[in-house]
Amino acid sequence: MVKKTEEQMEQRKRTTHCGALRKADAGKRVILNGWVNRKRDHGGITFINLRDRYGVTQAVIDPDAPGAAELTALAAELRNEYCVALEGLVRPRPDSMVNPEMATGEIEVAVTALSILNRCEILPFQIEEETRAGEDLRLTYRYLDLRSGGMQRRIRLRHETAFAVREWMYAQGFYEIETPTFIRSTPEGARDYLVPSRLYPGKFYALPQSPQLYKQLLMASGFDKYFQIARCYRDEDARGDRQPEFTQIDIEMSFVSRDDVLAMTEGLMGHVFKKTLGLELAAPFKRLTYDEAMERYGTDKPDLRFDLPLRDFGPYAEKGTFQAFKDALVSGPGGSAAGAVKALVVPAGLMKTPYSRKQIEDLEAHARIYKAKGLAWMKVSAAGDTLEGGVSRFFTAPEDNQAGAIIRGLEAGPGDLILIAADRRRKTANTALGAVRSRLGKDLGLTASSPGTSGPFEFVWIVDFPLFEYNDEEGRWEAAHHLFSCPQERYHAVLESDPGSVKGDLYDLVLNGYELASGSIRIHDPALQKRVFAIVGIGEEEAEAKFGFLTNAFKYGAPPHGGIAPGLDRLVMLMAGESSIKEVIAFPKNSFAVSPMDNCPGEVEQKQLDELHLRVIPPPDAR
Ligand code: AMO
Ligand code: AMP
Repeated sequence: MVKKTEEQMEQRKRTTHCGALRKADAGKRVILNGWVNRKRDHGGITFINLRDRYGVTQAVIDPDAPGAAELTALAAELRNEYCVALEGLVRPRPDSMVNPEMATGEIEVAVTALSILNRCEILPFQIEEETRAGEDLRLTYRYLDLRSGGMQRRIRLRHETAFAVREWMYAQGFYEIETPTFIRSTPEGARDYLVPSRLYPGKFYALPQSPQLYKQLLMASGFDKYFQIARCYRDEDARGDRQPEFTQIDIEMSFVSRDDVLAMTEGLMGHVFKKTLGLELAAPFKRLTYDEAMERYGTDKPDLRFDLPLRDFGPYAEKGTFQAFKDALVSGPGGSAAGAVKALVVPAGLMKTPYSRKQIEDLEAHARIYKAKGLAWMKVSAAGDTLEGGVSRFFTAPEDNQAGAIIRGLEAGPGDLILIAADRRRKTANTALGAVRSRLGKDLGLTASSPGTSGPFEFVWIVDFPLFEYNDEEGRWEAAHHLFSCPQERYHAVLESDPGSVKGDLYDLVLNGYELASGSIRIHDPALQKRVFAIVGIGEEEAEAKFGFLTNAFKYGAPPHGGIAPGLDRLVMLMAGESSIKEVIAFPKNSFAVSPMDNCPGEVEQKQLDELHLRVIPPPDAR
């Protein structure tokens, strides 16, 4: 009996796949296995489009072929997504039937045997190029959603990307080393996922937010060049470019300076883009300091597919008579440096029609989300010599031709719209107007890729980040990136006296407005590390308890080192031209950190909780 089944299986096993056959294969006898993509009957002729991972092949049952009656009867049973095996003869299609859109469009397979490997129930949604169903339905039946052409292509791109990464890293002499996923909590700024210990009541493992400390320890161990395609876990609110678990291409190197890390990363990106998309990236990538990025684009992740720079409106604000602008320029809160008045010129040529009051109000509402007090505007007249509308009346003193000076100074032209944000906090003015700039990029279609391509890809390094950020709510300094990044040498003397001025050896790689990678040169000197801990309020005892193993390791001749971690999900998302990383992850969580397919997170049995010494206290609203 078993023998018979094996024999049957052998008879039905594919000899090729559904994307392979070409005109030159005419005359070959083949067996194909796959799914019914579509079935059509044309006056007694049955066409079956059979699909697998590799492509689609058209199979035909002719009514006058030998055994046609039996085959046609069996074929009548077939529905979309039935899994079938078919045997037949490859033949060229008649010229009029050649389909240039299909790789196999020159041939068809004349079926001589057909068997159903498995039937398919009524589908919750049609399997198409892209699934047109709500997110939760797609995720509930993710195994079906993954059959769509789009998902198949994106998962393949992800595979090819990971492959190209390994290819490059191996060639450069990096070791691929795994680090643990049950660790002590690593401070990366997000909340940890915790795993309770059965053996040690009340103790927990944390899942790594990144392998940061371990990769630094590997440098102390002399491993020189490390990388890992590492799963990371962060309990933070999901967004388009964030998931609770995600993957980093985690990299660390010894005896390097910042520029070595940047050059290595450019090489890696160049290799990946070439191998997967066939694109040559121009290197070196552009570089902006953090301050330049904030002043010019109002964000540390500028989308450079379009320019629209922010400009300083301060000098004109001083001469004008608009009080809100003047107020912004007096010294900021607590006597801190003065605020800013920044302007953004929207060229008439980019707006299909001049922006209406309503459209400007929408932009103002958007700016307010970023804490702007308002968004002032005015327009350059059609003749290009005066300002009109909005706050223009405050800048039209004819005696010194303010309008002309503004138009020239901002390099504005006839019909252009000028948007202005003023704030006593420089960062607020920049950030709010930067958000308006990003929004305009989308609204004006400046970020759309041309049809059939996923580019253009505009990489930019952001360097010289501040090392510390002030947390207004908690009234203390925090590490802007993480605690182990090195302050640039020239700031070592003022670490304690002026933390806000300290620039770190920190860098981000930004692609099309997304933070793709982040890294730094690390502190390897225990004394310097102690000073940084102290500034963010971590005393010796706490430092010893939390990171003693790292600081101790540094006492034994740890080398200078640095590294970076590009997010793999974001990289593939951008290469695929998508705006959500869920589109490039086989089994992602939904926006509520839930997997609707297996209903995770789920309850566990009381016995399991008992073993873990845990008791669940229901939240107040569930009691
Ligand atoms: P960072 O926290 O900036 O740095 O993360 C590095 C990169 O990881 C990706 N990323 C994410 N992708 C998807 N979902 C998330 N929730 C998520 N969070 C981060 C981003 C980001 O640029 N240990 C340091 C790196 C280093 O210093 O070497 C780190 O983890 O692409
Ligand atoms: P108001 O005089 O307060 O009615 O404001 C007139 C216009 O100036 C409105 O369009 C406001 O949005 C704008 N405005 C007020 N304060 C600011 C500010 N700090 N920055 C930019 N625009 C502002």
